[in-house]
Amino acid sequence: MPADRPGRYIYIRDDSKDEFWSATWQPVLKPLAEKKGQGSRVRGQGYECRHGMSYTTIKSEYDNIVAETTYFVPLKENLEVWLFSIKNNSKKKRSLAIFTYVEFCLWHAIMDMTDFQYTLNISKAVNEKDAVYHLTGYFPNVGRNDFAYFASSEKIKGFDCDRETFIGPYNSEANPLAVSRGKSFNSINSGGNPIASLCNRITLKPAEGKQFVFILGTSDDKKEADKFIGKYKDIKNAENEFAALREYWTKYFENYAAKTPDENVNLMVNTWNQYQCRTTFNWSRSASYYESGIGRGMGFRDSNQDTLGVVHAIPDKVKARIKELLANQFENGSSHHQFFPLTKKGEKGGYSDDPLWLILSVSGYIKETGNVDFLRETAPFTDSPHEEEVFEHLKRAIDYVAGSLGPHGLPLIGFADWNDCLNLMGKNKAAESVWVGQFLVWAAREVVKLSKTLSKNDDAKRYTKLASDMKDRINSLAWDGDWYIRAFDDDGNPVGSSKNNEGKIDLLTQAWAVISGISDDKRSVRCMDMVKRHLASRHGVMLITPPYTTYDPKIGAVGTFAPGLKENGGIFCHANPWAMIAEAILGRGAQAFDYYRKIAPAFRNEIADIHQTEPYVYSQYIAGSAHPAFGRGRNSWLTGSAAWNLVAITQYLLGVRADYEGLVVDPCVPAHWKNFKIRRVFRDAIYDIEVKNPKRVSKGVKDLVVDGKRIDGNIVPPFKDKRTHKVEAKMG
Ligand code: NOJ
Repeated sequence: MPADRPGRYIYIRDDSKDEFWSATWQPVLKPLAEKKGQGSRVRGQGYECRHGMSYTTIKSEYDNIVAETTYFVPLKENLEVWLFSIKNNSKKKRSLAIFTYVEFCLWHAIMDMTDFQYTLNISKAVNEKDAVYHLTGYFPNVGRNDFAYFASSEKIKGFDCDRETFIGPYNSEANPLAVSRGKSFNSINSGGNPIASLCNRITLKPAEGKQFVFILGTSDDKKEADKFIGKYKDIKNAENEFAALREYWTKYFENYAAKTPDENVNLMVNTWNQYQCRTTFNWSRSASYYESGIGRGMGFRDSNQDTLGVVHAIPDKVKARIKELLANQFENGSSHHQFFPLTKKGEKGGYSDDPLWLILSVSGYIKETGNVDFLRETAPFTDSPHEEEVFEHLKRAIDYVAGSLGPHGLPLIGFADWNDCLNLMGKNKAAESVWVGQFLVWAAREVVKLSKTLSKNDDAKRYTKLASDMKDRINSLAWDGDWYIRAFDDDGNPVGSSKNNEGKIDLLTQAWAVISGISDDKRSVRCMDMVKRHLASRHGVMLITPPYTTYDPKIGAVGTFAPGLKENGGIFCHANPWAMIAEAILGRGAQAFDYYRKIAPAFRNEIADIHQTEPYVYSQYIAGSAHPAFGRGRNSWLTGSAAWNLVAITQYLLGVRADYEGLVVDPCVPAHWKNFKIRRVFRDAIYDIEVKNPKRVSKGVKDLVVDGKRIDGNIVPPFKDKRTHKVEAKMG
């Protein structure tokens, strides 16, 4: 462990030696990269695995046979290509057998878990020409005809569709019987576990190589599947599709690129962080390595936040997603907690913050595109086909939250707020969230700006007052002396207070006091200093401290995690950027950057054995100091950490952010940074921005020159002329 099995395997067998190994090292585990003596590699052996944008390439060399497999999904096809090449680097002619192996999933996740015996008796996989078709069908009310297929570009010499037959009794994927005896069984699957294994045989002269394409696809139309099988008989088609994918990502990244003095920052910001953002946008919290796709779907709060990480590159797709989200709002302004991508069915959760996230995504979209008219477009509600303007949807979201207040006049926390596991509500139904109050202030102020754009002065007045009343209430009730408390429990006692024994301080209400602008300068500095003192660690900022040691029904699920894991004092990478943003707002560039580098995967590559999760994508959390595995990442990929870290570094540290009036240039960086550059597409023009820092300050733009002309303030206007504009910003 960690291991990810079963994978997409290719076994290579040298018939003359009765020996076999894997082109991907797993699952045979032959020592491909074994070192000999003083660190020099054994000649003829080696291993390399590279992950790139939408592909993985694994190269191996064993006994002078070099194999390289590139796995990718073409842009517009429901299939995965394995572009496989093999070369004989030895001086002898070699006769090799290539056995591929995939194990099919069984489509119906719930039935797999609840009635496995049923599935095992309906499974079906058969061979036809150079392919295997996985035809397991479910009872008619599932209503889908999907099947899967796996095919080879070359004529096959054998096949297996049945796992037990291929692997053989008491063997495993490491030594399948078919491979060790050197011959497929030509088994079909009819009940049991369906797989696809194809066998190709080749003879290679010295220095001779050969290429194959294997495809693994899904379809509901046999003709379409056979069309693709035909298409990929020609290697060129696979190479062209791979080139198209490369071109797609090259273009995507042209929308934003930074050149800073720190290579790790460049690596994250220009490729991997943006790439992860695209993945979270596509999948939200649906099916993945961590989520089965049954319990978690398109999270309402998650999906709204995910738009922040991609809106600069795919604004039209963001707009379409926001429309889907708007249609998950109820007429009363509340919203579903999530919906499922296939069925589109929503699920309510009683989370108090959910409705407000719409304001984040809509305002983000308008700032990026300038498309104010979007506010006048209409969308239905989940409980009514009646359509209202987008602006009205936003107002209802605020009104709903502002209308659900508890005894202190703060928003009721409901089942939970952003922190899913802070479940304070008891029989009094009175627990309140200070953080939702802060978020409400932020949202109301954003709606004030939108109201003014639409000349809706009454709305502007109403929401200004709402924000100001809530701000005053929080400041008079929730200041604990050194920081803001997090909530009031069901009996009106403070949570996240120095008076508590556990969970004394919570990151959220400190960072958001600054982000929402509710705290004055003194309190802002004080509460963020307390974050540094109590929550910051060498692996990032912990969510709370000290963690809860036992489950307390009055506090909720947070206490079910071991101290230091997840929301119970873990370093929540989703919430860390809020500390970075708050520090940037305060102008403390060194601190903001320190928080950034502590959790950014590229920096953690140096401690990969501690961090454990991929050193190129953010994890949801890193274990906090209370846990023995302090510093260990978990739950990578589908997490709000992706979008928010991109926002923090690009918009607040490098400091170029879209706003209603144009592109704001407001960097906050470590004072020793001399200069950096950003090239960014914004509203149909390209901005080539150079930031110089001759006085070595952390924050403050003194001069802004656009196309040779000095302009007042720090906002570059939108040109919308498809041309490139040179922006020079001098800090000082
Ligand atoms: C993960 C969830 O997807 C997200 O919505 C939530 O805010 C965080 N956990 C914190 O609980």
